[in-house]
Amino acid sequence: MELEKNVFVGTYARAPVVIQSGKGCELYDVDGKEYPDMTAGIAVYSLGDGDPDWVNAMIEQAHTLTHVGNVYYSIPQVRLEFYLIYLYGCDSWKAPPVANSGTEANEAAIKFARKFQRFSHPDKKLPTTEFIAFTHSFHGRTMGSVALTSKEHYRLPFEPVMPGVKFIEYGNFEEAKKAMQHGKTAAVFIEPI
Ligand SMILES: Cc1ncc(COP(=O)(O)O)c(C=O)c1O
Repeated sequence: MELEKNVFVGTYARAPVVIQSGKGCELYDVDGKEYPDMTAGIAVYSLGDGDPDWVNAMIEQAHTLTHVGNVYYSIPQVRLEFYLIYLYGCDSWKAPPVANSGTEANEAAIKFARKFQRFSHPDKKLPTTEFIAFTHSFHGRTMGSVALTSKEHYRLPFEPVMPGVKFIEYGNFEEAKKAMQHGKTAAVFIEPI
């Protein structure tokens, strides 16, 4: 922990624990102390550590093909997208591009919303670009996601950010309905669990 201060920009507020290994939903620190994993990587990794099926799939894939660029087709990617559509339960949809992180997924959502608005109303001189987001939100650390993040601590240091974001009090449905205006609102941004 002391050494890290010398070499790492202090972006994250960390708990004073050095995690070394994990098995299932148990984590172990460098002294071998056991902790139940109550966070799952901030709610993104629900398989636990060292899941045998996941480990085997990773090993098999690493032996088969390490990387394929987006300029080629890849069968597992198509299979995944069919599965995502099945999970959404809506076979008239198309799955979004696969991203490396939550914030990139949100950047893609922002760009899809803007592009959709621009091409839906080609005659409009100024395309519809207003976004509605909600108080207490955090959507990631890239510039678009930061613009949609209401928590000032994450947004203010980077201003000016993407303009046209309106924050509505979370849970105030009447205010949200009033704010959503045809021809003005490009998208409403909320991350459900
Ligand atoms: C609600 C929410 N949205 C987006 C993100 C950004 O995800 P990532 O860190 O994978 O970019 C996070 C990360 O903590 C999050 O909690």
